[in-house]
Amino acid sequence: MIIGSISEDISIEKRVAITPDIIKKYKSLGLEIHLIKNYANHLGINDKEYEAEGAKIIENEDEVISSSNAILQMSILNQNNLKKLKEKQILIGVLNPYSNEKKIKELISKNIDCFSLELLPRITRAQSMDILSSQANLAGYKAVVDSFAFYQKAIPMMMTAAGTISAAKVLVVGAGVAGLQAIATAKRMGAIVFATDVRIASKEQVESLGGKFLIVEGAENLETEGGYAKETSDDFKKKQEDLLKETLKKIDIVICTALIPGKKAPVIIKKNMIEGMQSGSVIYDLAASQGGNAELTKVNEITNINGVQIMGDSNILNKLPVSASNLYSKNMFNFISNLFNKEKKVFEINLEDEIIEKTKVK
Ligand code: NAI
Repeated sequence: MIIGSISEDISIEKRVAITPDIIKKYKSLGLEIHLIKNYANHLGINDKEYEAEGAKIIENEDEVISSSNAILQMSILNQNNLKKLKEKQILIGVLNPYSNEKKIKELISKNIDCFSLELLPRITRAQSMDILSSQANLAGYKAVVDSFAFYQKAIPMMMTAAGTISAAKVLVVGAGVAGLQAIATAKRMGAIVFATDVRIASKEQVESLGGKFLIVEGAENLETEGGYAKETSDDFKKKQEDLLKETLKKIDIVICTALIPGKKAPVIIKKNMIEGMQSGSVIYDLAASQGGNAELTKVNEITNINGVQIMGDSNILNKLPVSASNLYSKNMFNFISNLFNKEKKVFEINLEDEIIEKTKVK
């Protein structure tokens, strides 16, 4: 059995699905690996590194696709390459089935099995495959590093003979995977960190990282059974707004990470709150591509509102694509390892396995 991968459109996606360190593991399962020439050249990883681990480098995209039982990618293939897929082949990646509904329906009608890794259930057995966590963790880190680099003042408190510089105050909105990493990173760099979330369970996690949790007065716990956030009521929104409006006047850097699965991101930092912030402050909106947590965020632009700079990258992971690919590649291997029957040496689509059932796009 062969797994293959071709280049992504690197103007949009710099991450790759297979890094050299994982090739031996695939081979030990009994899988061969076919990769397109110059697969990860843009990441400073040349073909020789893949070949040294036992992958086969192929010059022609069509040949990689036609020879592979499973195609492993970051994002869905382009229309031209999708047409080349045949019955019984498997396509795995972050396929974004809601935006790519038509394309995926076509593949399914041709008996091509599609698996989308962002649909993985958040269960213990799936943790090693959890691309949302591995990538969100890096995103949280990078949002802090980038916004700190952009901010025009020093971050930690410094007492010098020339005078004292006070520590920067950071607010993290949403204390999930990205938010918690943002808190840890900002603390390590010497900032004073505040955080808020609608899930009361996150209070303890924020405090264990040295952050101060801002609790909305009278808030009920807005957590689903699956551990995600529920949408907030108008009453909650008003109380959160009052709390944040006052807090934001003293905050230097805001890192926004709040999301609600399957919905547009909640708008938490309103226009009037931004206008009340100090000139020179920075907002890094990690939710930008889902609509943004800040009302004035523009995707892939830096917006200046009376000296407050709002940054909204659509894919921050393109700024650390090597680390992001390394983790994604491991997540992918763990997923394949569960899908591949090691005794029979075939891909086995056992829909009684919750991981396989939930990720298979129907
Ligand atoms: P996410 O990316 O969907 O959302 C980020 C954060 O934003 C969440 O903490 C959410 O509560 C918060 N949020 C949403 N609306 C908000 C609002 N209006 N105001 C303030 N905050 C708001 O969530 P993520 O990071 O994917 O994780 C969420 C949960 O999943 C956590 O409980 C986490 O522990 C759990 N989890 C479980 C895993 C497992 O394998 N068991 C793996 C990873 C996460």
